[in-house]
Amino acid sequence: MSNKATLNLDGKSFEFDIVTGSEDEKCVDISSLRSETGYITMDPGFGNTGSCFSSITYVDGTNGILQYRGYPIEEVAEKASFVEIAYLVLYGELPNEEQLREFSAGLKEHAPLHTNLEHHFSGFPKSAPPMAILSAMLNLVSCFHPEVLEVTSAGAEFERTATLLMSKVRTIAAFAYRMAAGKPINHPNPHLGYCGNFLHMMFSDPYQEYQVSPVVEKALNLFLILHADHEQNCSTSTVRVVGSSRANLFSSVAAGVCALWGPLHGGANAAVIAMLEDIRVSGKKPEHCIERAKDKNDPFRLMGFGHRVYKNFDPRSIILKKQVHKLLAELNIEDNLLDLALELEEATLKDDYFISRNLYPNVDFYSGILLRAIGIPLNMYSVMFAIGRMPGWIANWKELLDHKQRISRPRQIYTGKTKRPYVTLMER
Ligand code: SDX
Repeated sequence: MSNKATLNLDGKSFEFDIVTGSEDEKCVDISSLRSETGYITMDPGFGNTGSCFSSITYVDGTNGILQYRGYPIEEVAEKASFVEIAYLVLYGELPNEEQLREFSAGLKEHAPLHTNLEHHFSGFPKSAPPMAILSAMLNLVSCFHPEVLEVTSAGAEFERTATLLMSKVRTIAAFAYRMAAGKPINHPNPHLGYCGNFLHMMFSDPYQEYQVSPVVEKALNLFLILHADHEQNCSTSTVRVVGSSRANLFSSVAAGVCALWGPLHGGANAAVIAMLEDIRVSGKKPEHCIERAKDKNDPFRLMGFGHRVYKNFDPRSIILKKQVHKLLAELNIEDNLLDLALELEEATLKDDYFISRNLYPNVDFYSGILLRAIGIPLNMYSVMFAIGRMPGWIANWKELLDHKQRISRPRQIYTGKTKRPYVTLMER
């Protein structure tokens, strides 16, 4: 099979290299297209465009496969801890005992926030969206740790900075929730693990230390593992675009938070719950939602359904659906939103509109029900996604710099007014 692609333009033939990845994915390398032909390609939404070569995560949308550095999501979700998987995503290999101990110690060391940073939380109105607070505070952290502004992608400085960011994103999230809820903040407890410490900072009260249940801690670990990375999604691509100007890691991930916030992306998990609640409160049948989702004159979309890459089941939604049943049973919780979700999924599996468009539940369809069972408030769901995705954002930022990737600067085709002379106000 030829490793060249031929393009015929204006009576001339141009050849471009075909490049094959380690999982046999293929691309046509058109990095010299414009200089050779004067043409650019057009691909709004980048559905057919590769932005980079990456060794972090592999997604096969046809077969519903997701692997972090070669490890299948089904295995790591059940068997690993989020800290192990964060290390794997960041550095390419699962940590040995010494590496895990060192990484965990760093996460504990960096959990507290600078005292002056804490004061900034009180400057936000109670109604401030937690994603706005998260993005602002991530940039603010770098003001109190100016050394991180100079960090490049290699060596001990990077490792310290990545660990600091992984740890503080959790503290910032918990503090944002406590302040908005008018509750005193809980400082990190160095005797607790990554997830247990987050739950403590979120839910302990002055007179009642939150008792971290192993069942809830395991469920939160699984949730964060499932969100750790997902190749070049909207927010990760945003982190790469910002980082490509050699902006520092904190401003790059703060931009990633903003991209994740949108309801088409990380905002969908909360939108799913709002949709299910609306069905429950209105008493409408799930079929009503489905008819609205199919109506081209109605902007309503079935939240938690569809995916740019998965044209089969999103493996994360299968894992989450199973875990939600298990968690609710273990916690002895009845949540009829789960029943509604199952009904909705069932109905779409028989509906040609969804079948013909390969619209299946994605990671956000069941994840909100798991967060509800843990007691995470609705306005924190996207923040939880951001905590999970942090290792993926950091790893992609690092890879971009390791590869010395050029600044991102897409082209366009201009469709506006052609050249014309200025006219004075009198002449208009
Ligand atoms: C995440 O990219 C990633 O990896 C993201 C993510 C990650 O881990 O980072 O997996 C996390 O963001 C998951 C997606 C969460 N978003 C939602 O659940 C919002 C609802 N879903 C859609 O808006 C949509 O499916 C997207 C945004 C997820 C994907 O959009 P695409 O790829 O641009 O698909 P499209 O809008 O072009 O849809 C193709 C067709 C259209 O119909 P036709 O024009 O062919 O008639 O499918 C229809 C769409 O109208 N469609 C839906 C639908 N999703 C697509 N119709 C109803 N309900 C939906 N949810």
